[in-house]
Amino acid sequence: MYSLLRSVALLFALFTAITFAVHPVEVRGQNFVDTVTNKRLMIIGVDYQPGGQAGYKPDSREDPLSNGTICLRDAALLQRLGVNTIRVYNVDPTINHDECASIFNGVGIYMIIDVNSPLGGESINRADPAGSYHVGYLSRIFGVVENFKGYPNTLGFFAANEVINDMATVKDNPQYIRAVQRDLKNYIAKHADRNIPVGYSAADVRDVLKDTWAYLECAIDGDDDDQSRADFFGLNSYSWCGADATFQTAGYDVLVDTFKDSTIPVFFSEYGCNKPEGVPRPFNEALSLYGEDMTALSGGLVYEYSQEESDYGLVLINENATVTLRKDYDNLESQYNKLDLNLLQEADPTATSRNPSECSEDLLSDAFDKNFTIPSPPDGAEDLINNGIDNPVQGKLVEVRETNVPMAAYGSTGVQIQNLAINLLSNDGTNTPGGDATSPSGTTAAPSPSSTNGGAPSRLKGRCSILIAVFAMVLILL
Ligand SMILES: *[C@@H]1O[C@H](CO)[C@@H](O)[C@H](O)[C@H]1NC(C)=O
Ligand SMILES: *[C@@H]1O[C@H](CO)[C@@H](O)[C@H](O)[C@H]1NC(C)=O
Ligand SMILES: *[C@@H]1O[C@H](CO)[C@@H](O)[C@H](O)[C@H]1NC(C)=O
Repeated sequence: MYSLLRSVALLFALFTAITFAVHPVEVRGQNFVDTVTNKRLMIIGVDYQPGGQAGYKPDSREDPLSNGTICLRDAALLQRLGVNTIRVYNVDPTINHDECASIFNGVGIYMIIDVNSPLGGESINRADPAGSYHVGYLSRIFGVVENFKGYPNTLGFFAANEVINDMATVKDNPQYIRAVQRDLKNYIAKHADRNIPVGYSAADVRDVLKDTWAYLECAIDGDDDDQSRADFFGLNSYSWCGADATFQTAGYDVLVDTFKDSTIPVFFSEYGCNKPEGVPRPFNEALSLYGEDMTALSGGLVYEYSQEESDYGLVLINENATVTLRKDYDNLESQYNKLDLNLLQEADPTATSRNPSECSEDLLSDAFDKNFTIPSPPDGAEDLINNGIDNPVQGKLVEVRETNVPMAAYGSTGVQIQNLAINLLSNDGTNTPGGDATSPSGTTAAPSPSSTNGGAPSRLKGRCSILIAVFAMVLILL
């Protein structure tokens, strides 16, 4: 009787799991690893912040993940492109993100969420880290954790972005970044049901890069449980410019050398130099980033989805909410389609079991902050961490009912993409590039998503394994 109940429960769990498209990911040594398949997750990502900083409008309760129709449109285009992760910079912890998060989850796309915003009191001020590290600030960033902790596709949180950006900012700031990481991780340990990774996104300033990583990666006193340590390190990288750049001229060889023995995942949290200006980016660097030479890194996120003032867009969002792909989108898609997906999922077993290095002055160059005494939490913070913030808005997955994109999207040559829709993946699906089957959108009328979508094979595989499992259950029951 007990085993019967158990089988029924398992069967039930199996069916309810069908709506969960992605497996939670955790950090193991140098890699992000899918907690169910134990395969490596290489980030194939795009930074997503339509409207730029102005896309975050707390007064009108809008941010990049607040409108499900817009997310449906963009998730369809990002799924088609082949990405498995987006990074979202500025979100409002007091509004509901269920529709958007569920849509991205449904298409097999993870989210890395920055906890900060450019508004006053919502980030560490590099000119006054001590003064900006207060309980009001912590309350905001814990709110972001509350808001996103319930989504299985929340891959991680950025505790800070480019706080250290030149030699003038290497004093004090590093300690405060570790303090914020510690507080976030303690909050997650108390209030989330899984270990969501927390890390830092570094500026592309070679003078401070290695020190910043070394300072944030190490364990103080060699303590493996040191909560102030970064779980991952994102690097904003713009050194590969134009069609003629190479692994060497872009200095990627130096990056690999710097990070090859990292004990935490390192990836590009932004990449995609847009020089020479006005020329669509060929994205040749993607072949290096995901090739044999750079398996020490965990992939990267292209800056950025939408065309904004800074001119880095893969797509143009029109006034009437339609989207026109730019040639950059086509180029990136065709580079993604050349990737060796098996290579990406292989994890070097030695890379997943690395112990953190112990913090010491020897890791750092002379100019860098060598103070490993991390500031204590500000007044009132312990209470927030122990008891949780007041009135948190906690997200949860909802059923995605609408899959057809209601607005038009146009390829880079102006041809409308027919039947644009998202393709909901089954429970083991993470979106992947489409491989040979996809033709670039700009050169042909776009084929329908069902025949080109990169997720289709894993979806079929998922369906099959579910069928086999159900069949096995029925046998057990009999
Ligand atoms: C979502 O965005 C669409 C397209 O811009 C717009 O028509 C719609 O009103 C928005 N929905 C909400 C709830 O703001
Ligand atoms: C929306 O705007 C774009 C760009 O201005 C235009 O090409 C397109 O025809 C418009 N589409 C609709 C459906 O209004
Ligand atoms: C190190 O930082 C702590 C605060 O985190 C501070 O109290 C201490 O004075 C600093 N030590 C030095 C030598 O600057």
